[in-house]
Amino acid sequence: MAAVQPWWSGTVIYQLIVRSYADGNGDGIGDFKGLSGRLPYLRWLGVKTLWLTPVYPSPLRDGGYDITDFTGIHPDLGDLASFHRFLTAAHGQGMRVILDLVLNHTSDLHPWFQRARWAPKDSPERNVYVWSDDPQRYSDAPVLFRHFESSNWEWDPVAEQYYLHRFLRHQPDLNYANPWVQETMLEVVDFWLDRGVDGFRLDAVPFLCEEEGTRCEGLPETHAFLKRLRQRVDDHGRDVLLLGEAIQPVQEAAPYLAKDELHGAFNFVLTAHLFAAVASGSTRALGNCLQDAQDVVEGCGWALPLRNHDELWLGDGHLIPQEVIQTIRVGLPQGQGHWLNWGINRRLAPLLNGDPRANRLLHGLLYSLPGMPCLYYGDELGMGDWPGLRDRDPNRTPMAWTPARNGGFSAAPDPLLVLPPITAPGYDYRVLNVEVQKQLPGSLLNWHRRMLICRRLLPALQSGSFRLLSCAHPGVIAYVRSTEAMTVLVAGNFTAAGAAVGLDLSDWQGQRTREVMWGCEFPIAHDDWYVYLQPYGFNWWLIGEVEVEGSETSSQPPKATAGEPSV
Ligand code: NOJ
Ligand code: CA
Repeated sequence: MAAVQPWWSGTVIYQLIVRSYADGNGDGIGDFKGLSGRLPYLRWLGVKTLWLTPVYPSPLRDGGYDITDFTGIHPDLGDLASFHRFLTAAHGQGMRVILDLVLNHTSDLHPWFQRARWAPKDSPERNVYVWSDDPQRYSDAPVLFRHFESSNWEWDPVAEQYYLHRFLRHQPDLNYANPWVQETMLEVVDFWLDRGVDGFRLDAVPFLCEEEGTRCEGLPETHAFLKRLRQRVDDHGRDVLLLGEAIQPVQEAAPYLAKDELHGAFNFVLTAHLFAAVASGSTRALGNCLQDAQDVVEGCGWALPLRNHDELWLGDGHLIPQEVIQTIRVGLPQGQGHWLNWGINRRLAPLLNGDPRANRLLHGLLYSLPGMPCLYYGDELGMGDWPGLRDRDPNRTPMAWTPARNGGFSAAPDPLLVLPPITAPGYDYRVLNVEVQKQLPGSLLNWHRRMLICRRLLPALQSGSFRLLSCAHPGVIAYVRSTEAMTVLVAGNFTAAGAAVGLDLSDWQGQRTREVMWGCEFPIAHDDWYVYLQPYGFNWWLIGEVEVEGSETSSQPPKATAGEPSV
């Protein structure tokens, strides 16, 4: 009998920023009341896990990743009671909720830091953070936010020492060599698990510990702490998802995925290769990357993002060829993409030149790969951005709900809004919003919903094995996902031209293929099976006589209605 899968296996994660999602009290800032009111939409869309970017008290100098109280709720968003009401309602609608948790650092306004700087040198209070008299300490550790900082150290005139900050200067690093820090952060985890959250997206996990002469990334002490964290979570006796953010090559991110460590980590290399494949029209590097990601420990999995609240990471020049990066930037409408730290600070739709075919292609792949596909709020609509905003704000603007003022996000006067809603040409909320797209059968929103229904109906896409198929066309990727009961074939064309491709389906000779979306059938008569893919086209096919639970059987003619998939 197949082992029972944890709830998060193959789950589709919807990432949202509470303050940009829906304003429930009319003050211009999204909150838990507003989000609770939008749960029926999320249920309708078919996402199963909600990932909330940080919701804690914070001066918001880094989008809430600068925390002043790990066990509170930012007053703009509500309080612990409104969070609880939201969580209960989300659970009631069949959704799980994971919180962003920043282990590595706090805000410099956190009481721990204020206490540390006034405390005597080397005292327990001071040692909650990492201090030095010499800013050359750990000089092999690279500066991560290189557009904002030139050093990992900042002089504190009160403490008369430098403190370490791997990110912004107002985000001092916690000192994980101090047992108090470790235990206190584990108590934070207890606090939220006791309140019913289903897991954590763990921010910046590689950087917890430091050691001279190293890059201070993924050190054994860091893994040892994460194992303690896993043990602590397991002690709660329920299925909790620990999902780590390690923006690194797959080989370096993979060690976090271990039976006794994290359940998941983001595959940002895949994200970069997906964009590079669209820009270059070549899938060779993408194929290698997909292959590399298959070697995961049982019980662990990759989370698969396209975009998120940060810049699109494209690596340090070794991952993606410079000319491909240039192609992605030059093609952008409304000015070139802003290069920030390690990538481009734009939303998905503008990065794809507003081409919904490419949006469908990338999501079509994401929804059919092993792992946990991540959908960033607004990308289900093809929402745009405001490239002129500071830092990473261009892609953190309010969700577009209706054609009404402020896109239905808030009733507040414009100057009070958290960020300006999108009115850029081609992306104006008066046209591009949930209400309008719900009514149009061919909209991107209805397409996403339909794909998510198909994914739920096809267990092979959630937990099946993965096999890349060789394909002579350099711009096409093809693979099969199989369980004992079913095989699903996926093929996608990353070029702006149509592609006629032959695939070796000799293992299934004599069987039939049936399009998942529209139900059209093709026999597999010969070793080579030919298919035509439109520019940026892709498709999913069921192979063989498969009965799909909750749908009609393969012997019946497929029902190609406008709204629902045919499987
Ligand atoms: C990673 C987060 O995704 C990013 O938004 C934040 O600025 C850094 N960690 C620092 O916390
Ligand atoms: Ca509000």
